[in-house]
Amino acid sequence: MTSNRPLCLIPGPVEMSDTVLQAHSTPATAHTDPKFVEAFGQVIEMLREVVQTKTGQPFVIAGSGTLGWDQTAANLVEAGENVLVLSNGYFGEGLADCMETYGAAVTRLRAEPGNRQTLDEIAQALQAKKYKIVTVSQVDTSTGVLGDVKGVAELVKKLSPDTLVVVDGVCATAAERLYFDAWGVDVVITASQKALGCPPGISVVVVSQKALGVFAARKTPVPAYYVNWNRWLPIMKSYEDRAVKYFATPCVQTIFALNTSLREMLANGGMESVFAAHERTSARVKAAVVSWGLKTVAVSPEVSAMAMTAIWLPENIQAADLLPKLKARGVVAAGGILAGQAHRYFRLGHMGITATQDNGFVDTMLKAAAEALEECGHAIAPSSGRSTPPRL
Ligand SMILES: Cc1ncc(COP(=O)(O)O)c(C=O)c1O
Repeated sequence: MTSNRPLCLIPGPVEMSDTVLQAHSTPATAHTDPKFVEAFGQVIEMLREVVQTKTGQPFVIAGSGTLGWDQTAANLVEAGENVLVLSNGYFGEGLADCMETYGAAVTRLRAEPGNRQTLDEIAQALQAKKYKIVTVSQVDTSTGVLGDVKGVAELVKKLSPDTLVVVDGVCATAAERLYFDAWGVDVVITASQKALGCPPGISVVVVSQKALGVFAARKTPVPAYYVNWNRWLPIMKSYEDRAVKYFATPCVQTIFALNTSLREMLANGGMESVFAAHERTSARVKAAVVSWGLKTVAVSPEVSAMAMTAIWLPENIQAADLLPKLKARGVVAAGGILAGQAHRYFRLGHMGITATQDNGFVDTMLKAAAEALEECGHAIAPSSGRSTPPRL
């Protein structure tokens, strides 16, 4: 269903397969319908495979990625408790604000734009104070910087084993490697509209048994109604047992769509092949950026996301000049969102079927970007950027 419309190649919402779109347009269906109950139960099970956990508890609730921030803060933080936020941009700052809303005493450890904190800096912070939670944005969508989830989880295990490791995976889950059980992650927050390949509308949070134990031992009541896990845990367990239970109406059609996208994702080789496809696609995009004579906002390959790429523009070009020229060539890309720098860069999303299927979307994206840059007056060496880098 791509004819006569531009491709949506921003860092989410992402392009969806035709079968996902069809699943999303099913007629009115009761949330008590056995077909829906089965689909919901399967979604909960498949999400465990996506984040590679046997015992983590998925919460699948109508809402967007931000609702996962609220779920985590409301359920795991009590007023006055210390939270360390590793902030690599706009979304790290938002998560810190959300934690403060629920009374957390937040320490923000910020990196320079385009970079991430070193493990030494994080170790110093963990040794300076006892934290209930440390948060890592696996990809900060404002910069395309990759957080070091594995490294942080290892440090926490060594220096502060009671601290819970919370990962914002909204722009990462199902694109960037994450091994929930093996790495010792406690919470992954994500959403349906990015690498999960589905329309917006579902907040997904996966919680370790350790974090559920910390939640159960709270001294104060959860200061929220809709996001209270005491209300949702019986619902999740019930649907997984293929039985209906009501607290608040689930988004039936979006869950059908998520069921379809997860099945498609897991069908061919499972998560390892999904991760490898994102790595190959990202390598093509990063090679194209070099061939255009430009630089990514992420300062090195080590700190670069696979799910998306943020690209500094030449000084004489602003995002507002470039984006309409890309759209005229059939590609919707995103401008920047870093305060004070937003006009200086643009962002391309390459998650979900754009990365995993042989649909030519990346060819279209790279050709359109090279041509739009040239139309803005940026010279690209004839031998490099005009033809798209080969598939690896
Ligand atoms: C890293 C990250 N965290 C959180 C969010 C918030 O998600 P939503 O817009 O679905 O509420 C986003 C949105 O793009 C994001 O990229």
